Amino acid sequence: MKLVKTCSIGALLVFWASFALADGALSADQLEFFEKKIRPLLAEHCYECHSSTSKKVKGDLLLDTREGTLKGGENGVVIVPGDPDKSRLIKAVRYTDPDLQMPPKNKKLADSQIADLVAWVKMGVPDPRTNAAPAIVRNSDMEEQIREARKT
Ligand code: HEC
Repeated sequence: MKLVKTCSIGALLVFWASFALADGALSADQLEFFEKKIRPLLAEHCYECHSSTSKKVKGDLLLDTREGTLKGGENGVVIVPGDPDKSRLIKAVRYTDPDLQMPPKNKKLADSQIADLVAWVKMGVPDPRTNAAPAIVRNSDMEEQIREARKT
């Protein structure tokens, strides 16, 4: 009986620790940084073409979920956590590569916004967005289609 009790406490601890780890990866500062600087920036300047709400997703890259951001686009990963200089997303917003400039068409971000993205990558890409795995993204696409279909 005692053994059972010890085991279940052990299991509980493991269970708790896995949560603590998943959560603990983000400090309050990192969370605030993401919510204040990164999320609004991505939403305003990138979601138009790189989110589940885009009319057409460009470059096969979804930046509105953590999974999508880390997975990358048609040419592979776009962010190497901790290494901005190896991250194609950073290269793109810096406008140093004539073949990949984001947002496109001379809409280069402000230097401070680029610096925020660089800092974000340096920090290891802290990102609290846990919902919307690709399957759910497709779901919301479907909901959109259903809504559209109901209109007519
Ligand atoms: C007006 C539409 C549009 C906007 C806004 C936009 N992109 Fe793009 N993005 C594209 C297109 C189109 C591609 C495909 C490559 C190309 O044609 O240049 C692309 C490709 C990329 C790629 C390369 C993907 C790969 O695997 O090769 C990255 C990284 C990227 N975009 C990042 C961003 C970021 C970060 C933002 C916001 C700061 C952004 N984009 C905003 C249209 C857009």
